[in-house]
Amino acid sequence: MQKLLIDGKKILSGSINISGSKNSTLPILAATILNKHTIIKNVPFVNDIFTMLNLLKFVGLEYKLSKKKNLVEVLNHNKNINTVAPYKLVKTMRAGVLVLGPLLAKYKKAKVSLPGGCAIGTRPVDLHLYALKKLGAKIKIKNGYIFASANKGLKGTKFKFPSISVGATENAILAAVQAKGPTIIDNCAVEPEIKDLINFLKKLGVNIKVKNRKITIKKSIVEKKISHEVISDRIELGTYLIGGALTAKKLKLKNINSNLIRKEINILKKMGVKMNIKKNYIEVFKSKNIKNINIKTEPYPGFPTDLQAQMMILMTQAKGLSKIRENIFENRFMHVPELKRMGAKIDIRNNCAFISGPCSLTGAEVMATDLRASVSLVLAGLIAEKRTNINRIYHLDRGYQDLEKKLIKCKASIKRV
Ligand code: UD1
Repeated sequence: MQKLLIDGKKILSGSINISGSKNSTLPILAATILNKHTIIKNVPFVNDIFTMLNLLKFVGLEYKLSKKKNLVEVLNHNKNINTVAPYKLVKTMRAGVLVLGPLLAKYKKAKVSLPGGCAIGTRPVDLHLYALKKLGAKIKIKNGYIFASANKGLKGTKFKFPSISVGATENAILAAVQAKGPTIIDNCAVEPEIKDLINFLKKLGVNIKVKNRKITIKKSIVEKKISHEVISDRIELGTYLIGGALTAKKLKLKNINSNLIRKEINILKKMGVKMNIKKNYIEVFKSKNIKNINIKTEPYPGFPTDLQAQMMILMTQAKGLSKIRENIFENRFMHVPELKRMGAKIDIRNNCAFISGPCSLTGAEVMATDLRASVSLVLAGLIAEKRTNINRIYHLDRGYQDLEKKLIKCKASIKRV
């Protein structure tokens, strides 16, 4: 199994190109089932994207990719379609369940493996199924699979999600765009990645409007050849911003939209992080006097749970007691025991972490447990004395394109063995 060896305390400088958003590309790839010819640009070539492409191939779609151009072309010839998402593909990546809505909507039936739990929590799919049932689907669970059918097609309707879910909102939209008649969904997630999916669907003639947390879908899809460039990855940007605040003489982050992370920028500013912010690039500088802060994770526009673990590393360098309340996932402090082994002073009480700083970290043998926890260990390794060995880095490869290449270019000392 591969691991990363990081020699810490290097001063970083240079520039990093932020990749396209993984969480935007995944639902858009699921949406290609609904169209005949789609070109997607700014695709991050990370393992989750390859898993989704394999899933589309399993269903019967054809894809071509150009790694140089970060481009994927997906063709649905509408022949030999297999409306199944097998366990082997959904178990490695929960977003596989996003093909359920489009398969059901277009082909009136789908058999999709239940994703099961994962390290950060139980992560059920009840809200996805709730939405599809409201749209008229019949759902049965048998042998670990969801069997969904709508013999006469889905019907537009009006409903409200009992709680906010990114994936369930995406699945509901992807089903509703092929339903007969309009659909109004309330209490939706409104992450920038969902807005990107909506912009993609608008290119296919769908009439979708978002107002607060209400999404109204009127006209359904008109299949055609379209091209769409996905938004840049706000979580990757946030990760390197924190990395820069911890280590950099000057780090320039390019290919971005700083408007997507205004809230996070304000929090970093409050902590005393020095940045030069422009719409399509940000320069960040190592900050000496980091101040403590309290944050809580929330659905967008709140602070993202996907940046919580990285933020915790910055808090270990802040003066005083900082607090994180994790409101989205029940088990998302898995990085804490590893960070404590590196010398961090962190207490956990229920869904809150209390971080005392500033404290110096020392390198250790640590283990990555999920995508964002893994990258927080990389950030910790960059500021620790001596060497940090990070095991199980396949989590990192699921979501960060060229992580060590990007950091090495900026003078970090990282080796993959
Ligand atoms: C997406 C993101 C993930 C991010 C998360 C929250 C992708 C591919 N992944 O995951 O990176 O951390 O949003 O911002 O975009 N829930 C239910 N029932 C459901 C669905 C969800 O109870 O049917 C719960 C979950 O357990 C969790 C909360 O709702 O506690 C939010 O999860 P959700 O927004 O659905 O996350 P994902 O779409 O899986």
